[in-house]
Amino acid sequence: MKLRSAQWYAGQDRNAYIHRAWMRRGVPDDAFTGRPQIAIANTASDLTPCNAHLNEVAASVRNGVYEAGGIPLDLPVVSLGETNVRPTAMLWRNMAAMATEEMLRANPVDGVVLLGGCDKTIPSLLMAAASVDLPAVVVPGGPMLNGSFRGKSLGCGTDVWRLSEEVRGGTLSQADFTSSESAMIRSRGHCNTMGTASTMALVAEALGTVVPGVAGTPAPDSRLLQAAHETGRLAVEMVGADRRPGTFLTKASFHNAIVALAAVGGSTNAVVHLLAIAGRLGVDLCLDHFDRIGSRVPVLVDLQPAGRFLMEDFHRAGGLLAVLHEVRDLLDPDALTVTGRPLVEHLDGAAVWDADVIRPREQPLVAEGGIAVLRGNLAPDGALIKPAAASPHLLEHRGRAAVFDSIEDFHARIDDPDLEVDADSVLVLRGCGPKGYPGMPEVSNMPLPKKLLEQGVRDMVRICDGRMSGTAYGTVVLHVAPEAAAGGPLALVRTGDIVSLDVKARRIDVDVPADELARRTPNKSTLDGFANPKRGWERLYVDHVQQAHTGADLDFLVGSSGSGVSRESH
Ligand code: FES
Ligand code: MG
Repeated sequence: MKLRSAQWYAGQDRNAYIHRAWMRRGVPDDAFTGRPQIAIANTASDLTPCNAHLNEVAASVRNGVYEAGGIPLDLPVVSLGETNVRPTAMLWRNMAAMATEEMLRANPVDGVVLLGGCDKTIPSLLMAAASVDLPAVVVPGGPMLNGSFRGKSLGCGTDVWRLSEEVRGGTLSQADFTSSESAMIRSRGHCNTMGTASTMALVAEALGTVVPGVAGTPAPDSRLLQAAHETGRLAVEMVGADRRPGTFLTKASFHNAIVALAAVGGSTNAVVHLLAIAGRLGVDLCLDHFDRIGSRVPVLVDLQPAGRFLMEDFHRAGGLLAVLHEVRDLLDPDALTVTGRPLVEHLDGAAVWDADVIRPREQPLVAEGGIAVLRGNLAPDGALIKPAAASPHLLEHRGRAAVFDSIEDFHARIDDPDLEVDADSVLVLRGCGPKGYPGMPEVSNMPLPKKLLEQGVRDMVRICDGRMSGTAYGTVVLHVAPEAAAGGPLALVRTGDIVSLDVKARRIDVDVPADELARRTPNKSTLDGFANPKRGWERLYVDHVQQAHTGADLDFLVGSSGSGVSRESH
């Protein structure tokens, strides 16, 4: 088989001389004569603490690549740390994907191992791999170990939201809150709740892009390094078999990913990422598939934010393969994986070892899980709600809207004692979609008004065109499309309008006649809430980003350009 990299290294002319000479670095002569060149696209960074250990994982991948006859090549790529990167890591997901795609295509690379962890890193790597269509396999960096504070486990993200609300509600002291801080992040790895990072690692495995059984292995566990070593070997095999994403990622793969997303009670962010990955592959996937496939799937995993446990417990209880084994009949048996074998074949022998953490099919945590897709005059193109993380008594609700034009407007007024809001009110926040607040930040799970918290209110219906953290919970309608800044009707709602949510009927509406709604125009303060960046990536992003219901990718990045080698550089 002729390797792609031979277009750089083969021959005796001046150009091949140049390509080889600079890449010798001490490797043997035969490094350039038929040995697959395997990039290790690595998102390790001190500023992405969740991924900082990936250099060690990369070393194990390197060993595996060498052992199988390949040549490993470190390729540091854009790293997005969820907690540090402003205004939101999501603003840079498409940029990271574009940069990785282009560097893989531009270089003498035959295959790639993708190292990610923190929320946006696995999605951006998979989008890149899909668009360059080289043999690619993911090693998820794995979750951190359980945190523990005063005898109780601490789940990162989820317990920050919970504890900070307790402080605002007056049931936890500021000092106790501060002293829990050092117990939150106990080890290397990504968030240990079923947040976006855990979700995307598991969903990537269900999709077929991770060696089955590896996702969810805790970051400090030596079995992660073993898996990395074996994945390095596999990457070389994948080049030999020409096993590219375009050859094995199909609609069936996405079906299985959606089943897994529902069964683990995963993050709403996975919807936008899976839609974007499918868009790169040309797989026909839309919001309705998530509702249709996912809503009949029981939630089996009792993890925060929907439940009690953390990822270390999940791995100990049998991990994703145990979950998929329980719902095997719902999976598409034809979907293949990086191993060349169907996902379902990898489920033989999988078992649940702790039925409190991974429930049996007959005793699910929630009978019908998944993500509900709502439509109505507030969200003509769709909006999401995660019923398992919502309050049952609010799933059918009518209330008066309290409207905020930006997250700053919200923060300025939410704790005002004179704010007209009660437990039945519906909090509406707009200007937080992909264009309005470039990147679509995780602000949809708005904190509740202080005066209501003090009355013991712990959940309210909230509606927003932004996203929310996968570690968050509450009755939150999010990803409203089209967003206010793209002309969506969310821009026209006024404080005092009656908003109705009916999850069973899949509706989200404002009780305003169509002709009156059509006559309304957005207020100046609403328009002022939308971003208008002057230059740079943000300008490009706002001009080209698509709406949440299609994956919030840039219009010109949808699809694939393949791995064709461009013209010579000199
Ligand atoms: Fe990185 Fe949560 S902050 S995974
Ligand atoms: Mg997050």
